[in-house]
Amino acid sequence: MPAIDAVTRDLLEHTEFVTLVTEGPDGPHVVGNWGDYLRKIGIDEDRIILPAGHYERTEENLRRSSRIQLMAASRAVRGTRGPGQGCVIRGKGSVQTEGELAARAKAAFKWARGALVIEVESCETQL
Ligand SMILES: Cc1cc2nc3c(=O)[nH]c(=O)nc-3n(C[C@H](O)[C@H](O)[C@H](O)COP(=O)(O)O)c2cc1C
Repeated sequence: MPAIDAVTRDLLEHTEFVTLVTEGPDGPHVVGNWGDYLRKIGIDEDRIILPAGHYERTEENLRRSSRIQLMAASRAVRGTRGPGQGCVIRGKGSVQTEGELAARAKAAFKWARGALVIEVESCETQL
């Protein structure tokens, strides 16, 4: 079974932005990305690829601990109690400046220095 389930995929197809959290030496570090950037590169079966323009602290954090969490949400996806669903995606992340995935990010976004790659392990809805 793919790690990215149907509801999570629907959320990634509709979310306006995603929030990403890594573990820094002083606590959680929060950054963002746009849903349309995510969709432009494409969502793989078990992998999310985002353009990295900066993400310097995120990269440092991921070198120390590869654990990363994302949140995506949309009113356009139905939750269990009405319109609106959101999910937390957990996985392992890295910033890649060379190789096939970095090339994909650079081809889609001229300003990208590489790709923030998340190997998805689990997804959990909240609503
Ligand atoms: C909605 C949104 C979209 C963003 N998109 C990107 C992006 O595509 N690439 C990127 O490197 N930073 C993006 N940023 C900025 C990052 O959140 C972050 O502030 C910046 O990359 C510095 O990361 P660092 O604190 O890990 O060094 C975005 C921020 C927001 C709020």
